Amino acid sequence: MCGIVGYIGKRDVAPLLLEGLQRLEYRGYDSAGIALHAGGKTGGLKSAKAKGRVRELESRLPKRFNGTTGIAHTRWATHGAPNDVNAHPHLDADEKVAVVHNGIIDNAADLRTRLTAEGFVFVSDTDTEVLAHLIARSEAGTLEEKVREAVGHIEGTYGIAVLHADFPDRIVVARNGSPVVLGIGEKEMFVSSDVAALVSHTRQVVTLDDGEMATLRADDYRTYTTEGSSTSAQPTTVEWEAESYDMGGHDTYMHKEIHEQADAVDRALRGRIDDRFSTVHLGGLNLDARDARAVRRVKILGCGTSYHAGQIGAQMIEELARIPADAEPASEFRYRNPVVDPDTLYIAVSQSGETYDVLAAVQELKRKGARVLGLVNVVGSAIARETDGGIYVHAGPEVCVVSTKCFTNMVVSFGLLALHLGRTRDLSVADGKRIIEGLRKLPGQIEEILANEAQIEELAKEYAEAKSMMFIGRVRGYPVAREASLKLKEVSYIHAEAYPASELKHGPLALIEPAMPTVAIVPDDELLEKNRAALEEIKARSGRILAVAHQVQEKADHTIVVPKNEDELDAILMGIPLQLFAYYTAKAMGRDIDKPRNLAKSVTVE
Ligand code: AGP
Repeated sequence: MCGIVGYIGKRDVAPLLLEGLQRLEYRGYDSAGIALHAGGKTGGLKSAKAKGRVRELESRLPKRFNGTTGIAHTRWATHGAPNDVNAHPHLDADEKVAVVHNGIIDNAADLRTRLTAEGFVFVSDTDTEVLAHLIARSEAGTLEEKVREAVGHIEGTYGIAVLHADFPDRIVVARNGSPVVLGIGEKEMFVSSDVAALVSHTRQVVTLDDGEMATLRADDYRTYTTEGSSTSAQPTTVEWEAESYDMGGHDTYMHKEIHEQADAVDRALRGRIDDRFSTVHLGGLNLDARDARAVRRVKILGCGTSYHAGQIGAQMIEELARIPADAEPASEFRYRNPVVDPDTLYIAVSQSGETYDVLAAVQELKRKGARVLGLVNVVGSAIARETDGGIYVHAGPEVCVVSTKCFTNMVVSFGLLALHLGRTRDLSVADGKRIIEGLRKLPGQIEEILANEAQIEELAKEYAEAKSMMFIGRVRGYPVAREASLKLKEVSYIHAEAYPASELKHGPLALIEPAMPTVAIVPDDELLEKNRAALEEIKARSGRILAVAHQVQEKADHTIVVPKNEDELDAILMGIPLQLFAYYTAKAMGRDIDKPRNLAKSVTVE
């Protein structure tokens, strides 16, 4: 949530920062701003900010806005309305200090009262502004000490980058709970909250830990703790190519990412299948066969789409490994003082690896001595680092706020984990082989589904007129229905509800009428007849039905037919046409598909 980018070197900084902001815009798009060292005779800092998108900021930059050192920010509003004044960077009254900040300062109100009493004048409603005044107020001799002193007053989370007019040769950054990544170039240094803004310049990065700070100069960097002792953070190479962040000829990232799914799944499987023992190798799991056999329960924690992937994962683990498993929103789990059981394997699932609610749940579990694995997309992210081991889902960068390919790769990764756990227990060689064959079929079957795009586009145009839609599924189909309903509402803003098909008659059937279409997930499995009975019930109330099924459903007005895989793996495929359905519905309605209103990609606040 929110994006930070900074640069120090020899190049003209404003265009570089604008480009970085464009890359980070998916993290927040309420406002954007830049501050830079003006250099020249007069020196000092210059800044520009604008409500709205980065292109708005670009159009408002003053004519002479040059320098070779600067910081910038794109905001998802937490404290204060999205407007020009609340946009970052925040400066002190003398415009000597400029700060960009991701995270939340919990004691901002107290600090504001104290600083106001001392005569500091606040111009914005943000929590971040306290930092600018605290740094300006410090009498310490170096910028590093000023920043250290200021963050010492802060309770909460932060990733910050700071400029000071008296220290034009450096940018000082600090991290506590919100990512800060340094990018190492040739006689130039970058900083960002996300490698997305760095990879077109360098793939050599240093990720700061919580409680770590860094000083960036054009030709070097130094890392140290907020207590002042040096650290030796080592550079690593980012796996993802700069091109993976481009739109690649598609009109939106959502469309591109939906179409990348066959390759993404192929990547998730690559090098992991062990035909000899009909199982899979998951290198980073750090769970030997003895540990795996000792697991009595599995509890999966995630938010939004990742939680839905976890629900499918829990069913796969129960089916294939016969270990009781369930999924729960991490945001609920962490607040209900959960009983933490040493024989339970906890799995935190997250695309970004940054979601605050998931991270906080992991930290609470670790504090209570639990074993927690991560199922994460972003390598080296906070959740990946906090967990005892895990599986990278290898979906590649996902830029659209609406998650698609990551969901699919998460579910595939759960399939791999379920197979692995199953084969350390009672899953037979024959069943292991059957599941492996099913997994191998997935990329081809995804291509088949995507080849049906024209039919889905037509259907989406037709259903886009609905004010509200019902999504139903039973057992394996229910989390698919929930995810499809979330996809539709977040990208098209059409109200959608998801219910187990079995629950219809316990209440929601009252909603069914011709204006309320139902999207039904109808796999060809042991529940086919039960699902058909639900379609009958809807039809008897004159409801319109769009079925996603393995064969045309007589009672449905329309059926999107998807290829059949193994029963246990069908859920992986059945949601994919509904991603396209949500995409084309939103397109028909003229929505801002990659950046739905009020949302941001990584939710790093509560
Ligand atoms: C998905 O379309 C969402 N925008 C959202 O629900 C997301 O899945 C959720 O915020 C969790 O994010 P994470 O996977 O990065 O933890």
